[in-house]
Amino acid sequence: MEFNESYFAKHMAPISGSAIRDIFKLLGKPGMISFAGGNPSNAALEPDVIAPIAQEVISTIGAPILQYGATEGFIPLRESIQRYLLDSGVPCEESQVLPTAGSTQGMDLLLKALIDPGDVVLVEDPTFLGALQTISTYNAKIVAVPSDENGILPDELEKAMKQYKPKLAYIIPTFQNPTGTTLSVERRRRVAELAAKYGVLVAEDDPYHDLRYEGETLPTIKSFDKEGWIVYLASFSKIISPGMRVGAMVVSFPALLRKCVIGKQSSDLHNPLITQAIVDAYLRKGLLKEHVKRILVGYKKQLETMISGFESFPEGTKLTKPQGGLFVWAELPENINTTALLQKAVDNGVAYVPGTHFYPNGGHHNTIRLNFSNSPEDKIVIGMEKLAKVLKENN
Ligand SMILES: Cc1ncc(COP(=O)(O)O)c(C=O)c1O
Repeated sequence: MEFNESYFAKHMAPISGSAIRDIFKLLGKPGMISFAGGNPSNAALEPDVIAPIAQEVISTIGAPILQYGATEGFIPLRESIQRYLLDSGVPCEESQVLPTAGSTQGMDLLLKALIDPGDVVLVEDPTFLGALQTISTYNAKIVAVPSDENGILPDELEKAMKQYKPKLAYIIPTFQNPTGTTLSVERRRRVAELAAKYGVLVAEDDPYHDLRYEGETLPTIKSFDKEGWIVYLASFSKIISPGMRVGAMVVSFPALLRKCVIGKQSSDLHNPLITQAIVDAYLRKGLLKEHVKRILVGYKKQLETMISGFESFPEGTKLTKPQGGLFVWAELPENINTTALLQKAVDNGVAYVPGTHFYPNGGHHNTIRLNFSNSPEDKIVIGMEKLAKVLKENN
């Protein structure tokens, strides 16, 4: 007998591996400068701070920390996340907070609770590749809603809500991945109003909320939510540690929260108690604010260095200059195909993600997403020079 494609479930058929993960496979070469991933800088992680906290929670809590825990989460963590969220402008009760394995799992649980094959999910155009992959797992029909430099266009969103009568829309309002754009305050208010008017749940995925290098923090979409249609997805991946896999979802409708809890039971039963307790202790000790303040200094410099690097890019390149987050997005002259040039760039020692992967309907081969958090400034300078050379040679 031969094991072949016919063994796979039909619902897995539309899903390809993440292009970013595939690009990672190209990065083994020594000296490679990668603008591809979305990792926080290693310099922004704090092993020396986390190690004693881990020791402390294990010694203090003892055996129960190694036990099974509640799907609803480690109670002290729910309290400290609620406090963090209130501070971030996310109105919520502690009972509405469900700790998740990153915001990825929050989106997965929502889809699991709501989506039958063929149901429409509205997304920004372009949007986060990981979310596209998660949505595809449920065989949803993905409908891309046009966006501009101020985020998703509310009139287009309304049109799509009327036309498709979806249950769910997915929006990244702050320093969007991949474009770095931020949804304006007025549009945030409109999104909340439209969600209530048409009865569409909106997943507000906000992992970059705290990574602001300039300008004022904006109110969350959730802060305009009067009825409960906005599900807020929070993550500590970009500000404490992606590897600990701690995030949370805020779900206002109790019946929906219950379905998410049931969905989580069959996914992973609960988040590991150890990582929940570590994040809880970290938040209770009040370490987050100072830490974020510190990492913003480095990220801001890295962003500025990357933006300067665009000076040597082909004429006609248009880039977003984000006020925060981890990415710069650019539209190159029409005749430059970043998908086709990736291998050549990698051969020259620099990697990126071709923009096409973020568009549900493909195309846009002249776009590119560059991450700056994961390369020190001197490497950003060299990497941008190498990239500019490859792009110009092929212009
Ligand atoms: C918009 C967005 N959502 C979610 C994630 C994944 O976050 P988490 O580690 O919390 O699952 C990312 C990471 O790149 C992201 O950019």
